[in-house]
Amino acid sequence: MTNSNSCWAVVPAAGVGKRMQADRPKQYLPLLGQTVIEHTLQRLLGSGAFQAVSVAISVEDPYWPELPISQNPAVITAPGGKERADSVLSALKALEGKAHEDDWVLVHDAARPCITSGDIQRLIASLAQHPVGGILALSSHDTLKQVEGDQIVATINRQQIWRALTPQMFRYGMLRQALQNTEGNPAVTDEASALELLGFRPSIVEGRPDNIKITRPEDLELAAFYMEQQA
Ligand code: C5P
Repeated sequence: MTNSNSCWAVVPAAGVGKRMQADRPKQYLPLLGQTVIEHTLQRLLGSGAFQAVSVAISVEDPYWPELPISQNPAVITAPGGKERADSVLSALKALEGKAHEDDWVLVHDAARPCITSGDIQRLIASLAQHPVGGILALSSHDTLKQVEGDQIVATINRQQIWRALTPQMFRYGMLRQALQNTEGNPAVTDEASALELLGFRPSIVEGRPDNIKITRPEDLELAAFYMEQQA
């Protein structure tokens, strides 16, 4: 394998975010004077790590064209898909002819606006020589229980359990192939799982706990708090 240093960002942003119970998808909710997705994209672009950012947007999305950042020459818009993995694959296809097979791609959720340049740079530096790639992840501080109904049936060894965050970093060609080969498989809930199903062993790189995913209404206030702390 050649050692390409070129990096591209892929941002799935075609979800509806039902758990937010808002009048619009969560990536368009206001956060410190901007929308969530503007923060996310500005942080990716501001890291200086990427040739371009390919963003998957629902074809029925009326909010995206209204944002000035959608016109940024370093931002490529691709049609979103039914599931997150479909959106990621679509955004990868939009890089065809630009990204080389062995270029790195960092996939990052639109709904994670607190990502820092430091975490992006550390992930890239840690995995630069890795044969497969890997992801930012967090260890668990709580004791973990396996349950059936409301009954505990086992205590899980937390040393072996990590929470998968984004960005997730893989080679362009390998990731595209993995997502194509696992298309429609409900077990593919992130990029790493597509590679795992094909027998690869991605690495983990410890990430920051403030890289939260906006999921529930109260997460917006928490994200604002973290962003102010980071500033
Ligand atoms: O719903 P969840 O928080 O897991 O979504 C993670 C990311 O994947 C979000 O940024 C969301 O917009 C994106 N997504 C997508 N296409 C889908 C579903 C989710 O791009 N069909």
